Amino acid sequence: MRELDINLKNTSYKIIVENGIISNLSTYISSVYTNKRVFIITDDVVEKLYLKKAIDGLKDKYTVDYVVIPHGEESKVLEKYAYVCEELLKKDIRRKELLIALGGGVIGDLTGFVSATLYRGIPYVGVPTSLLSQMDSSIGGKTGIDFYNRKNILGAFKQPSMVLIDPESLKTLDKREFNNGMGELIKHGAIGNLKLLNLLKDKPEIDEDIIIESLKVKKRVVEIDEFDLNERMLLNFGHTFGHAIELKYGYKHGEAVAVGMLMAIKMGIDLKITPKECYNAIYDILKLYELPTKEYDYKDYLKDVFYDKKNIAGTISFIFLDKLGNAIIYKLTEEEVLKLER
Ligand SMILES: NC(=O)c1ccc[n+]([C@@H]2O[C@H](COP(=O)([O-])OP(=O)(O)OC[C@H]3O[C@@H](n4cnc5c(N)ncnc54)[C@H](O)[C@@H]3O)[C@@H](O)[C@H]2O)c1
Ligand SMILES: [Zn+2]
Repeated sequence: MRELDINLKNTSYKIIVENGIISNLSTYISSVYTNKRVFIITDDVVEKLYLKKAIDGLKDKYTVDYVVIPHGEESKVLEKYAYVCEELLKKDIRRKELLIALGGGVIGDLTGFVSATLYRGIPYVGVPTSLLSQMDSSIGGKTGIDFYNRKNILGAFKQPSMVLIDPESLKTLDKREFNNGMGELIKHGAIGNLKLLNLLKDKPEIDEDIIIESLKVKKRVVEIDEFDLNERMLLNFGHTFGHAIELKYGYKHGEAVAVGMLMAIKMGIDLKITPKECYNAIYDILKLYELPTKEYDYKDYLKDVFYDKKNIAGTISFIFLDKLGNAIIYKLTEEEVLKLER
């Protein structure tokens, strides 16, 4: 078992990473919740794999009810948000009763948003089951849904009461979903945790230690920038170019981040910010985990990126590695960016 505390100005909460914790939820939840009923929100895939286990591990202390929605990003929409709220109200949920988000990032974001808004706020506990949600999205308090063709455009900051992570649940994840999380996990190593990169070199199973090392990177930026005004931007390493190629070539988000990191490293090397050896170090780890490493020339994407990104007072913020395991925010003017073009 491994633990991490997230300490914010007005609240703090525990993250517990433990193999098999899904079958044992009440042990931990009882330290943050003393009412009688809990409501699990999950998707149809996770339902079949883990709902019974979760219920069995809760019913010694709680009356358990649940709401199931279809899996996938298509469920992170207003209609499903309304459905979940309606079902909860039909079940007569009260203001101080607890939601449990059992599933990947979609369930986490949607449940968090319900929790932020229903009765103007009810508590929730995260039980993330995908790699991406375990190593990243379940902490930090960003919740929301997609709307008007824009991702995460309706949302709220709402921190969970606790996050309970079971690395064993990763065994049932399919390869592409695993990759999706792995790209972001390697990113956490690249931007803030050399120890994590070194652990990954032996290609171990993703275990409690690796999840914790990844979460430590997110913890650090979330604690200094709870509301995503500054330092959280560091988490966007690899995303500027990643977004530019994600849809174009049909990559999963985490796969696009993998390729985007290599592009950002090349650009950083050209600008003499990033040491040359960073390229091979990250390339080798991506290869080891069978993530895409195809080379795209970042110069072909600079124009898109410049006009697409927030252009504040004529400058644009890029994230570069200034050494392996550390990232910095670096502002470039339009002229500087255009000078790099071929
Ligand atoms: N809030 C944040 O800070 C934050 C950060 C990054 C991403 N996100 C959001 O997270 C979402 C992506 O998360 P995701 O990749 O977990 O997607 P997801 O929730 O759709 O899960 C991916 C797929 O894996 C399945 N699944 C989940 N756990 C499983 C398991 N243990 N075994 C087998 N299958 C399992 C799900 O049913 C789904 O089909 C996006 O909507 C993104 O915007 C949020
Ligand atoms: Zn991302």
